[in-house]
Amino acid sequence: MSFDRSLKIAPSILAADFADFGREVRAVEAAGADWIHIDVMDGHFVPNLTFGPPIVKALRRHVRTVMDVHLMIAPVDPYIDAYADAGADILTAHFEAGPHIHRTLQAIRGAGMKAGLALNPGTSVEVAAPLLDLCDLVCVMTVNPGFGGQRFIPSQVGQIARLREMIGDRPIHIEVDGGVDATTAPLVAAAGADVLVAGSAVFRGGSVDDPSPYGANIRAIRGG
Ligand code: DX5
Ligand code: ZN
Repeated sequence: MSFDRSLKIAPSILAADFADFGREVRAVEAAGADWIHIDVMDGHFVPNLTFGPPIVKALRRHVRTVMDVHLMIAPVDPYIDAYADAGADILTAHFEAGPHIHRTLQAIRGAGMKAGLALNPGTSVEVAAPLLDLCDLVCVMTVNPGFGGQRFIPSQVGQIARLREMIGDRPIHIEVDGGVDATTAPLVAAAGADVLVAGSAVFRGGSVDDPSPYGANIRAIRGG
């Protein structure tokens, strides 16, 4: 994975057909997805439960682009090796998931993956300052994590811009996750985000049997 700051659309399979992830991944990649965003939830750190390492590992065979795994779990450390084994390219942990995020980010890189740091809307981006040199990506949440289809929190745009300043010319992606659609995407891109996660706005109107809307949905988020 080489670094660049071009705009990337990362469909979240949280909005896909859970009984047919393989076909859904292939369909959004064919429709122009740059990365595939995989939301892991534990019913404890967030009030929703999705899946764990075996499903992520099964997905690896289908993902040709970048497998971007967003852990909404606590604790994180006992599972890092399992996600490395599952083939995650990027493993993102939440700042809020435990007392030792610095160690967690080190361990993610130590296991051979790119390390991501996710920040809830209630967390100031300033907390990332001492951690940036351990990060390949910072994910600014624009909803409270746990569910797809929630409304974008506009006050996070200022936080994205602040983070962009803090990062300077370091090779660190700024990812935005939650409520990203054709209306909110230009706001976060202008503030400095380069990876836009979108679930509902990508999968809206389509299905495994008729994935034809996915391409236009992705193009609309990218800005036409
Ligand atoms: C939220 C997840 C997101 C979610 C985004 O907890 O981390 O990745 O799937 O879904 P939309 O795009 O529908 O807000
Ligand atoms: Zn996510």
